[in-house]
Amino acid sequence: MASGHIQGRLLKMFVRMIRPRFVLELGTFSGYSALCMAEGLEGDAQLHTFEVFDEQEDFIRKWFQGSPYAERLHLHIGDALELVPKMDIQWDLAFVDADKRQYIDYYEMLLPRMKKGGFILADNTLWYGHVLEDRQKESDLQTRGIMEFNEKVAADNRVEKVILPIRDGLTIIRLK
Ligand SMILES: C[S@@+](CC[C@H](N)C(=O)[O-])C[C@H]1O[C@@H](n2cnc3c(N)ncnc32)[C@H](O)[C@@H]1O
Repeated sequence: MASGHIQGRLLKMFVRMIRPRFVLELGTFSGYSALCMAEGLEGDAQLHTFEVFDEQEDFIRKWFQGSPYAERLHLHIGDALELVPKMDIQWDLAFVDADKRQYIDYYEMLLPRMKKGGFILADNTLWYGHVLEDRQKESDLQTRGIMEFNEKVAADNRVEKVILPIRDGLTIIRLK
């Protein structure tokens, strides 16, 4: 479930390069990727991360509070699709790593809430190679969700995009 070490280092490096003020993460799980991104934050930059599975809360908070980034990290427990629209923040960087069936919903929610020139990083966009399967025969909802997301992003003229074929595929999307 968690990002691996190389992806963690890459996420930190993206944060260093982009120098975001507000970072959003969809899907906290253990908090590993949030901590990696927090490492790269500078100045008064803040990271808000969303996790729907409330049994994770104590575990995540323990690691966040024990880290040097406790003041920058904000954990929200609940469905990101409900919580993010209630926040009055325009995001510089978003890392999408929650339910694969909802990637298009996340994308549509995020686009109007991103700053011009902001970046969305979407994880697992090669989905173990399943994205190459015959779509007509494909019944797995997660695979279908990623396939439809990839097609939507590829056809979307509002953004520039590239898929990095590291680990399970990481799509970098920049709002024009
Ligand atoms: C792949 S894990 C995240 C891994 C983490 N980003 C990392 O790399 O360390 C996906 C997480 O998204 C959570 N999730 C799924 N749907 C969600 C939603 N609608 N809102 C918030 N979290 C969600 C799941 O409970 C799960 O813990």
